[in-house]
Amino acid sequence: MNKMLNRRKFLFGGATLAGAGVLDSIPGAPSIRLLNSAIAQVKRPSHIIRASSNENPYGPSRVALKAVHRAMEDANKYGGITPQLISLMSKIENVPEDHITVGTGSGEILNVSAMIASLEGGSIVAPYPTFESLPRYAGNMGSEIIRVPVDDKMHIDLNAMYAAIRPDTKMVYLCNPNNPIPSIIEKNAMRDFIDEVSKDRLVFVDEAYYEYVDNPDFETMMDYVRNDNPNVIVARTASKIHGIAALRVGFGYAHPDLIASMDMKKTGSLNIVGQHAAYASYQDMEFQNFARKMNKESLSIVEGFCDEMGINYVKSNANFGFIETGMEIEKFSAAMLNEGIMVGRAFPPFTTWARVSMQRPEDMEYFTQTYRKLFG
Ligand SMILES: Cc1ncc(COP(=O)(O)O)c(C=O)c1O
Repeated sequence: MNKMLNRRKFLFGGATLAGAGVLDSIPGAPSIRLLNSAIAQVKRPSHIIRASSNENPYGPSRVALKAVHRAMEDANKYGGITPQLISLMSKIENVPEDHITVGTGSGEILNVSAMIASLEGGSIVAPYPTFESLPRYAGNMGSEIIRVPVDDKMHIDLNAMYAAIRPDTKMVYLCNPNNPIPSIIEKNAMRDFIDEVSKDRLVFVDEAYYEYVDNPDFETMMDYVRNDNPNVIVARTASKIHGIAALRVGFGYAHPDLIASMDMKKTGSLNIVGQHAAYASYQDMEFQNFARKMNKESLSIVEGFCDEMGINYVKSNANFGFIETGMEIEKFSAAMLNEGIMVGRAFPPFTTWARVSMQRPEDMEYFTQTYRKLFG
């Protein structure tokens, strides 16, 4: 009953905003359709719903698109505006410029860091499951990967990770919020962990979903970089809330010695279009706020549905959910794809759980309606 009330409240709120013309002024805003969806069935959209890759359905912003169009005129040129972009990020994050490097996506930052940690062999400690790029790359470079299962609440288990560290461990990877499980690491426990572990080895903090977090227990670890800790790397990306995943811009923040080492090893080549898009987008707070707000609406649809249906899920701190489907994910995703919805792949050991990336509210209404129709 309560859930129904909450649901109505949410829908009414959406209609009020739309009525006031606030949402209508922003591209991709939900219209009155959202309200209608509570009454009528949501029609299958003509597009495939990409609830599979944690992409931002609203990006790039109009401001970023304008910058892209202008920058295309310079696409005959090598190079870009890396110094300007670094200077902007330095101001936004209050981190000195020599503590910042730009990568072709944060993926490149993850890879070069994995390379640095693997050059002399040894091991890397990583949660399990987590975002695989860094452990995979380090494994390919010859490191042994020590995987530490999440705890019974599906949170990254810092105590177990600490216990798993060996004398030959060169780096600990922490993804916060984690992916595919959108849980966060409690800030004080994380600080205790980093204070201790970073004395002797690298700690990599992947904050790809940082901008989506709205949880008082979360804190960025950027101040370790500001305070010149020589062993902490923080990564951020323009691929998520900024919605420019295809343009490949990401950032590494670390001590200048580490930044210099990373810069020597990077193999990507930034392009002027992506850099201008990021430069514009990071200054476009309206778009970031909008994307955050819409993400919350979509999450409330999916999580509200799970509450109503008694489906287990991990409360999300990012732009995706993680929900227990009760069947092998291959079966679930094939059935969903048949209805026009792509969901995430299997994430062992949770092979009956689906990672569902938030798309527009009306798409998530269609997702929950489809779920109910197929499995309800
Ligand atoms: C946790 C995490 N880190 C890093 C990345 C890499 O993103 P990009 O290389 O686009 O910056 C992703 C992409 O999904 C991610 O989920």
